Amino acid sequence: MKVLGIETSCDETAAAVVEDGVKILSNQVASQVEIHARYGGIVPEVASRQHILAIIPIIEQAMTGAEVTWDNLDGIAVTNGPGLAGSLLIGVNAAKAISLAHDIPITGVNHLEGHIYANWLVENGAAPVPVFPLISLIVSGGHSDLVLMKGHGDYTLLGRTRDDAAGEAFDKAARILDLGYPGGPAIQRAAESGTDSVQLPRAWLKGTNDFSFSGIKTALLRLVEAGRISNKADAAASFQEAVAEVLVTKTIAAAREYGVKQILLAGGVAANRLLRQRLLKDSPLPVLIPDLKLCTDNAAMIAACGYFHFRLARQTV
Ligand code: KG4
Ligand code: ZN
Repeated sequence: MKVLGIETSCDETAAAVVEDGVKILSNQVASQVEIHARYGGIVPEVASRQHILAIIPIIEQAMTGAEVTWDNLDGIAVTNGPGLAGSLLIGVNAAKAISLAHDIPITGVNHLEGHIYANWLVENGAAPVPVFPLISLIVSGGHSDLVLMKGHGDYTLLGRTRDDAAGEAFDKAARILDLGYPGGPAIQRAAESGTDSVQLPRAWLKGTNDFSFSGIKTALLRLVEAGRISNKADAAASFQEAVAEVLVTKTIAAAREYGVKQILLAGGVAANRLLRQRLLKDSPLPVLIPDLKLCTDNAAMIAACGYFHFRLARQTV
């Protein structure tokens, strides 16, 4: 079964074709990052206008790359939230139009559910298949969620951030340190030449599976304001360490509590090298992490998730 995935929830216009929920036939992303970098963050109105320009060419590229025509497509999966309303609208309307014009079944995919399904994808050869029950840590620009998954489509939210999402914290910390946008990769780059030598607080929120990152960010801001950061690389390394330590420790604790078989990492922050290494090193359970380019927003993960919707016969947009 070949599914066309469409993703426009934020600042990437993306389309992909995936076979049977696992095999990537093509995966195209038109990034707007350079346009928004000028403003130091995403400007929603600019994002929707860019999606309008990019949506048709990117779908055509994905289909050409996968060597499929409308007749070969068995389904369309489109992100229908959460995200920027104006951006989501472009992808959903494009998907609905194609579905109607070519009589192809359509399903709406939750963006965070899509991120989890990046772990099912393979480009060449075989990848380990996730085994249920599992816990997924989804860390993106808008969310930090711990989700228990007992089967396809069976989710229980165990914990979430009470303030900033992990990616949001990276973006804000990079702004405080004047390291540029997007913040996650900028912090990671700066941290490479620094050491974890700046003391920053960790919010453990004991007795819960929730997270909080605004305290770490504010502590960093206070140190910068007081002129106590002499080395940005050290500050970046310390910030990254603090965030990774909390995420890894709490995820492993939840995995133990719920007796799961695996831990899955997902979302843009899953591209963070320290977080990946630390989770793999510390976890007593098998850990699955998507390929780097499948961590940040893409449509292959949406198509993969959509395939399992079709198998479960959930077909709503
Ligand atoms: O999943 P994603 O691409 O978009 C959303 O759904 O939000 O995640 C974007 C977030 C941004 O906050 C970005 O700074 C962060 O992921 N990010 C990273 C890295 N690459 C992207 N954070 C830490 N380290 C990275 N290497
Ligand atoms: Zn995302």
